[in-house]
Amino acid sequence: MKKNVHSFQKLKDSGEKIAMLTAYDYSTAKVIDEAGIDAILVGDSLAMVALGYRDTYIITAEEMKIFVKAVSKGAVNTFIVADMPFMSYNINVEQGLENASKMIKAGASAIKLEGCNKYILTLVQRCVESGIPVLGHLGFTPQLMNTIGGHKIQGKTAEMTEEILVNAQKLEAAGCFAIVLELMPAESAKYITDNLKIPTIGIGAGSECSGQIVVTDDILGKFTDFKPKFVKKYADLHGVVLESITQYKNEVKNLIFPSQDESFELNPEEFDKLNS
Ligand code: KIV
Repeated sequence: MKKNVHSFQKLKDSGEKIAMLTAYDYSTAKVIDEAGIDAILVGDSLAMVALGYRDTYIITAEEMKIFVKAVSKGAVNTFIVADMPFMSYNINVEQGLENASKMIKAGASAIKLEGCNKYILTLVQRCVESGIPVLGHLGFTPQLMNTIGGHKIQGKTAEMTEEILVNAQKLEAAGCFAIVLELMPAESAKYITDNLKIPTIGIGAGSECSGQIVVTDDILGKFTDFKPKFVKKYADLHGVVLESITQYKNEVKNLIFPSQDESFELNPEEFDKLNS
C-alpha cells in the first residue's frame, strides 16, 4: 500500500527503518516501486546525474516537473517527494507555494526544501496548511554550498549539532513530516533524531537516523569517477553496460547481430517476385 506522512511516523515509532531512494526516470521508478522502497525522492541531484550540469544551481522548477511526471508514472505505489530547486522558493512565499503546487500537480505527494530561516518556516507552514507535506533538509545543504564553502561535514562540534537540532525542531514545529540530515557524524545525527518526534532520513549521517536515502545511480555503480565515503556500491552497472555496449558494437561490425533470430522473413512468393 502507498505510504503517507503518517506511515513514516509509524515506522519511526516502531523502530523500523525507512528506506528511501532517488529516481529521475520512468523505468528506474518502476523497479524501485516493485522493490517496495518506502519513498522516492526526485532529487535536484538529477541536475548533475541525469543532465550532466555542473551543480544543482542551474536546474529550474519547470525542468524538475518533467522528471516528477516520469517518476510518478512509473512508481504508482510509492510516496514521491519532489525536490524544490535552487531559488524556486526563496524569493517569496507566494513563489514557493506556486512552485510547490506545480510539483504536486506533476505527480509528487510532497516537496523537499533545504535549510531553515524565518521565510522557509513560513513557507513550510503555508504548504502544510494548503495540503502539501514538506520534507526538510539540514546539515550539508548543497543549494547553500557557496555560502558553506564546499562539501563540508556539518555538526562536527556539540555546539554545531545543537544549532542543527534547534533548526530541526523549528521545522518540526512548522509542520515538516520528516527531515533529511546530510553529511554529519553519526553521533550528531543520533542526537538530533533522539530529540525530534518526526523521523530523520540520513545521507552520510550514520545508521541511527530513522531512515536512509542515497542516490540510486551511486549504489548501482553507474559512475566510475567518484564514490563518496558514505556510498556502498551494490552493483557495477557501469561495467555491465560498458561490456554489453562493446559486445553490441563488435557484433554489428562482425555481422553477428542481427542474426536470423532477430530478423523478419519475407514469405517465399514475395521473395521470388522481388528476385525475378
Ligand atoms: O538531490 C538529492 O538527491 C538529495 C539527496 C540525496 C538527499 O537532496
